[in-house]
Amino acid sequence: MSEILRVEGLRVAYGGKNVVRGVNFSVKRGEILIIAGESGSGKSTILKSIGGLLNRGGKIVNGQIFFDGREITFLSDKKRRKLSGEAIGMIFQNAGASFCPIRTIGDQIFESVRAHRDWDEKFFLKRAFELMSKINLEFSVLNEYPFRISGGMAQRAGILAATILEPKLLLADEPTSALDVVNQAEVVKELLKLRERQKISIVMVTHNLKIAKFMADKILIMKNGLQVEFGTREQIFSSPKEIYTQELLKAAYL
Ligand SMILES: Nc1ncnc2c1ncn2[C@@H]1O[C@H](COP(=O)(O)OP(=O)(O)O)[C@@H](O)[C@H]1O
Ligand SMILES: [Mg+2]
Repeated sequence: MSEILRVEGLRVAYGGKNVVRGVNFSVKRGEILIIAGESGSGKSTILKSIGGLLNRGGKIVNGQIFFDGREITFLSDKKRRKLSGEAIGMIFQNAGASFCPIRTIGDQIFESVRAHRDWDEKFFLKRAFELMSKINLEFSVLNEYPFRISGGMAQRAGILAATILEPKLLLADEPTSALDVVNQAEVVKELLKLRERQKISIVMVTHNLKIAKFMADKILIMKNGLQVEFGTREQIFSSPKEIYTQELLKAAYL
C-alpha cells in the first residue's frame, strides 16, 4: 500500500506560542487515521496545517508535510486552492455553517465543482445523485437552503461537497460531534463505505474513543501539543504504552 500523507516533525505556533510541538505520522492509501486527545491539544491545528487553513496568526515553524509524494508544507495560494478543492477534501463539525445561507446547497456544490472540472449540470447531477444515494442524502437537499436542513443532512451535504471529486484524502474535524447518536453512527458507517468505494484515506479528529475504535486503522493521541502515542488500532487499544493513553481508554470504559 502506498503512502498518501506523511507529517514529519511538525511544529505550529500562534503568535509565537507553540501549540503543536513535534508531530510525526503517516497514512497509507485507503487508511483511516484518527487523531484523539483532550480539547486544546492541537488536533484541529494539525488538520488545518495539512489543509492549508491555519487561521491568521497560525504558522508552521518547523517540519514538513508530504502529500502523495510531494511536499506541500508551504504552497502558493493558487496551488493550494487546486489541491484543496480536488485532491484533498475537508469536512468540519458544523458543515451547515460553511455553506452560504442565501443560496441552495446544489448551486454551491456545483459552483465549487466547476472551479475544478468542466462538468455540465446534467453530469454534475448524475454524479451527485450516485453519491447521495450512498450516503443517505435525499436528492431534494440540493434545492434546499442550508438553514432548512437538519444537522445530519448538513453533515452529509458537507461530505458530498468534500468527496464528489473523489479526493485522495479526506480531512474531517469532529464531523460527528454535533450529531445525535443515531446520526453519529450512520455518518460513521457512511464514511467507512466511502473509504471502501473510493479508496480514500481519511484523517479524522474525534474525542470519541468508541468511534476511534470502530473506524481507525491508526490512531494518534495528542496532549498539550505533544504526540503522546501513534500506533495501529490494535496496539493502542490492546497494549497502550503511555499512561495518558491508558487513562483516556479507562475514562471511555474501553
Ligand atoms: N487562531 C488561534 N489563535 C491563537 N491560538 C489558537 C488559535 N487557534 C487555536 N489556538 C490555540 O492552539 C491550541 C490548540 O488548539 P486546537 O488545535 O484547536 O486544539 P484541539 O482541536 O485539540 O481542541 C489551543 O491552546 C488553542 O487555544
Ligand atoms: Mg478542535
